[in-house]
Amino acid sequence: MADIETLKQENRIFNPPTDFVKNATISGMETYQAMCAAAENDYEGFWAKLANENIEWRKPFTRTLNETDAPFYKWFEDGQLNVSYNCLDRNLQNGNADKTAVIFEADDGQVTRVAYKELHDKVCQFANGLKSLGIKKGDRVVIYMPMSIEGIVAMQACARIGATHSVVFGGFSAKSLQERIIDAGAVAVITADEQVRGGKQLPLKSIVDEAIGMGGCEHLKNVVIYQRTGTNINFVQDRDRWLKDVVANQDSTCEPEWVDAEHPLFILYTSGSTGKPKGVQHASGGYLLWAMLTMKWTFDIKPTDIFWCTADIGWVTGHTYIAYGPLAVGATQIVFEGVPTYPNAGRFWDMIAKHKATIFYTAPTAIRSLIKAADADAEVHPKKYDLSSLRLLGSVGEPINPEAWMWYYRNVGNEHCPIVDTFWQTETGGHMITPLPGATPMVPGSCTMPLPGIMAAVVDETGNDLPNGQGGILVVKRPWPSMIRTIWGDPERFKKSYFPEELGGKIYLAGDGAVRNDKTGYFTITGRIDDVLNVSGHRMGTMEIESALVANPLVAEAAVVGKPDETTGESICAFVVLKRARPSGEEARQIAKELRDWVAKEIGPIAKPKEIRFGDNLPKTRSGKIMRRLLRVLAKGEQITQDISTLENPAILEQLKEAQ
Ligand code: PRX
Repeated sequence: MADIETLKQENRIFNPPTDFVKNATISGMETYQAMCAAAENDYEGFWAKLANENIEWRKPFTRTLNETDAPFYKWFEDGQLNVSYNCLDRNLQNGNADKTAVIFEADDGQVTRVAYKELHDKVCQFANGLKSLGIKKGDRVVIYMPMSIEGIVAMQACARIGATHSVVFGGFSAKSLQERIIDAGAVAVITADEQVRGGKQLPLKSIVDEAIGMGGCEHLKNVVIYQRTGTNINFVQDRDRWLKDVVANQDSTCEPEWVDAEHPLFILYTSGSTGKPKGVQHASGGYLLWAMLTMKWTFDIKPTDIFWCTADIGWVTGHTYIAYGPLAVGATQIVFEGVPTYPNAGRFWDMIAKHKATIFYTAPTAIRSLIKAADADAEVHPKKYDLSSLRLLGSVGEPINPEAWMWYYRNVGNEHCPIVDTFWQTETGGHMITPLPGATPMVPGSCTMPLPGIMAAVVDETGNDLPNGQGGILVVKRPWPSMIRTIWGDPERFKKSYFPEELGGKIYLAGDGAVRNDKTGYFTITGRIDDVLNVSGHRMGTMEIESALVANPLVAEAAVVGKPDETTGESICAFVVLKRARPSGEEARQIAKELRDWVAKEIGPIAKPKEIRFGDNLPKTRSGKIMRRLLRVLAKGEQITQDISTLENPAILEQLKEAQ
């Protein structure tokens, strides 16, 4: 990972190709600036116009933004719409009925194409099926599915009947799933027998059984199972149903449930500073609007594009740029079941060539691991594949270091594809700060400028603007349509986490640090300012992992910090005190393995610490506070140069230097 000083000195500038600029939806910086000015001059008018132009409203809105109950902002509140109607039915009326909506490629390479008409019919049948189970508007439905057409259909079907979905990533454990089912008060879980990734069959339904078996899920009445592999599963009478039976004989039309613009479309759990994940709640109208606009602005989507976002539907990127955005603008998109390294690390390049992808959107971690693979084996180097169909590349989820950016630009984009380094979050619903491919000159490692209408700024702890060149806190000064509405069931935590009193209670606190370039004013994200880690683009709270560790009977105390990692951006390093004597040698390695597996079971394999170090104690101040900054230095393997005069037990530092 490049450090911030290197990033600040990055001075290479890449202008968007002339051809791209000529045909772009937002063409040239003057157009961008004019849009920003329009938003500045008449904020509500700017958004109202866009909402009227882009969304098909059942009942038009008359009030654009209601700030009376800030920070619980309401957008287009008296308007009514249906998100699924906007994504599907509208395409049938627009002449896209036979257009391919999804090109699905399974782990084993098998390809299925679904046209808009077919997708519409599947969603309607699924929606009718859900209704036949008694699921209705306002109910919460957990979706624990593999990457599949059925996963997207499930999300759209919920939207169609006004049920609020909560997708849980298929890599989360039974315990994490149970917590989410309970917190959301879900009445149903939609899952599959198994998922297939990298040639391996991995369980899903048995994890759902385990989650429900842990108790507390009495509100859950139905489990709907998509048969992916055909493996034998445990079947609970009156609760479990095969998806094929639920949709059998269902009508392929389903009158959408018209909902208010503020109706909760989905809840998506993400990590915060405390041990308990936050249920980020999004609304229908504003979210859909931003999904559409960013498809048009950031991705410059055109009717002929083949769009490919490699994210999983379990994360927000898979919500906005797979399940909703591409469909709402009538695009053709690739959906991939598998992993980038199977059957070999040329899989992404092979699929781009095979399906003639024009826009490719992935995470820096994937790029970095594919750089390594290409260095080791020339056969999987992107230059070996015909990637000439590509016209635009994107990056998401974590900072992209300039070296990885340059490799992506040269070897994947052949120096003619702009790269959009999109900064955003689960809470923001869609892109916030990103280059516009037909306008913004790009600087490797910088997400450049906020989109029109997004009032991002860098401020100090009290909310005062900082001059360019000075690092501070990233905030958004005005509400925007796709912003988080609340934390499900915890409005107080919502206010505290995102609209703290210290900043006046009305400014959105992103949780990241940022700095703007002296000359260009470009933003560079300097990383989280809270106890949140970003490992391979997966967001995790240190407290969450600590709580999992101390739940193990062997563990007395644990502290988790992030350590810079060349491939995954950050890796998890845990410092652990056992209830028994500090282990060493083989025994320490054994216990470390046991604890890693334990965390995988408590949260999911993505939360496994890469390193575990044992000590008789943790470095603490005299008042008993763990000194995490010292742990971060130790994790990096660096000498401690900071002041340690407040440290109660300096001798402990020696013990914690070595990994097991
Ligand atoms: O720290 C920022 C980082 O990812 C966090 C949001 O994570 P999540 O809610 O899981 O959403 C990821 C997909 C949008 C941010 O607070 N992040 C995301 N994109 C970038 C980034 N950091 C730097 N550059 C980015 N482009």
